[in-house]
Amino acid sequence: MRGMVQSVSRRSFLVSTVAGAAAFHVPPRRRQRHPVAVSSPNGRRAVEIAVRKMLEGVPPVDAAVLGIEPVENDPQDTSVGYGGLPDADGVVTLDACVMDGRSGLAGAVAALRNIKNPSQVALKVMRHTDHVLLVGDGALRFAKMHGFREEELLTDRARREWLRWVESHSKDDDWVSPEENGAFGTEYVRQTGTIHVGAVDANGDCGGATSTSGLAFKIPGRVGDSPLLGCGNYVDNEVGVAGSTGRGEAVIVTNGAHRVVGYMRDGMLPTDACLAALRDVVRFTKSSRLLDDRGRPAFQVNFYAVRKDGALGAAALYPSRHARMTEAGPEVVASAALFD
Ligand code: GLY
Repeated sequence: MRGMVQSVSRRSFLVSTVAGAAAFHVPPRRRQRHPVAVSSPNGRRAVEIAVRKMLEGVPPVDAAVLGIEPVENDPQDTSVGYGGLPDADGVVTLDACVMDGRSGLAGAVAALRNIKNPSQVALKVMRHTDHVLLVGDGALRFAKMHGFREEELLTDRARREWLRWVESHSKDDDWVSPEENGAFGTEYVRQTGTIHVGAVDANGDCGGATSTSGLAFKIPGRVGDSPLLGCGNYVDNEVGVAGSTGRGEAVIVTNGAHRVVGYMRDGMLPTDACLAALRDVVRFTKSSRLLDDRGRPAFQVNFYAVRKDGALGAAALYPSRHARMTEAGPEVVASAALFD
C-alpha cells in the first residue's frame, strides 16, 4: 500500500468538488499576510518563537515545535516535559502530537519516559516512519535511535508534590501527611496543564503541536488527548488548526480538535468554533461524578483555533487565557468562556 497514488480524473474531481461545495458553506477568506500563532497561556514565548521562525521560512509544524521546546525544557512548568508532574508511581511520562497541513502527515508519542522533548520525537515519527503513534518502550527506543539523550525528568519540586499527593489523596490508606497529623486536612487539586501551539504562515499553510506530562498522578499507562490526532491537536490545510488543554478524557470522547476544525470548515469563526465544541463537551458530560452542584462540568477544557487566513481565537468552559502572536505582537488575553 505504501507509495500507492490514487488517480483522480478531471471529471470525477469536478463532480466531487461541486458535490463537496454543496455539502458545506466555506466563507470567503481574507488573505493571510503575516504568520500567526496561538497557544495556551504558558506559551507566550512559544508563539513569539513560532512566528519568528515562520518569518525565517521554517514550516509551521516545525515552528510550533521550536516554540514548545523552551517550555518542555523549563523545570518550573510542571505540566510539560522536564519537571512535569509524574504518574501515581512517581514516573514522569510524556505525550505529544504534531501535524503538518501541507503534507497531511502527523506523528505522535505517548507514555514516553526519560526524553524531555516529546514533540521533537513526534516530528521524527512523522518524518522517519510510516506510522503516526509510538508508545512506551518502543517510543523510547525510537527516540534513542535518533540521538535523543535519556535523563531523569522528575525534579525535586515535582517529587515533593507527588509525595504530598501520595500522603493526602486518600484517608483509607497508610500514608499520612504532616497536615493530617496536625489535624489539618488538605484537598489536593490535580493539574491537567499542557501546551498547544497552532501556527499559520504567510502562505496560509498550517501546523500544530501539543505536548504534555498529562494528568498529574495518573494511573500508570494513562494517555490523554494530547498525543491523539483529532483530540488534542488537528490540522486541515484547507481550513486551519485547533488544539486543546485541560481534561483530556472529555476531549477524547468528543474528538475535540477535529470538531473545532469541522466547525470552522462549516463557516464558524475560530472562537465560535471553540465554543461550539465546548457545548459538545458539556453535552457528553453526564456522569454525576463529573458534574458540580449546578450540573456543570467539574473540570476545565480549553480550545485554541487558527483559521487558514490568520483569524484566531480561543474559548474555555470557565474563564481562562491564551497566548497569541499576530502582526500586533505577542499578548496573553482572555479566552471566551462558556460559564462564569
Ligand atoms: N490535556 C492533557 C491531558 O489530559 O493529558
